[in-house]
Amino acid sequence: MAYMWLRSVVLYIHILAAIFWVGEMLFLSTVVGPYSRRLAPSQRTELFTALGRRSRPWAWGAMAVLVVTGLLNVTLAGIPLSALIDPRFFQTALGATLDLKVLLVVAMIAVALWHDSVVSARGNPLPSPPGQVALSAALRRRRQASWLGRIALLLALAVVFLAVRLALYL
Ligand code: HEM
Repeated sequence: MAYMWLRSVVLYIHILAAIFWVGEMLFLSTVVGPYSRRLAPSQRTELFTALGRRSRPWAWGAMAVLVVTGLLNVTLAGIPLSALIDPRFFQTALGATLDLKVLLVVAMIAVALWHDSVVSARGNPLPSPPGQVALSAALRRRRQASWLGRIALLLALAVVFLAVRLALYL
């Protein structure tokens, strides 16, 4: 009984953290992105810098919680963590789903880190006064950040789909 409570609480925290991580990405891509397109480039940079500075610690805090509670979910479901790298476990439907999920999580973290490093702490400002070469480099970085953000979001949606499949096997 107490064990089922513990499992439920850990899964609850895991799902809340997933809402934070995915919610931030969805809000930026569906609301802030389209809204910012009608702003002047410098205002757009300012908006993304301000929002990014506030949302990033929450998003990465949520990711840390996701990894810790994710591994706890595995253990509490009675699966030893060593099974994650056992080829025999991978041959089961549960094992393949879990391993694929963890793999996509690693890929998603890598893409998100890459995205954040392109955006950089200064929010990728446009050069002023804008020289032609520096300007096109800044715009290229901005386009790259936008694509990396989209890829990270697609990976996150795939991870949630695998999470749903996973819960059906447990
Ligand atoms: C190392 C990383 C992770 C591991 C090992 C992991 C593992 C698990 C496991 C074992 C479950 C099923 C728990 C149960 O039903 O008892 C689960 C559920 C879930 N995970 Fe993860 N997870 C990880 C990261 C993530 C991430 C990054 C996200 C979202 C972006 C996520 C979203 C979810 C969701 C939404 C559920 C609930 C699915 C449902 O109940 O239908 N997980 N996770």
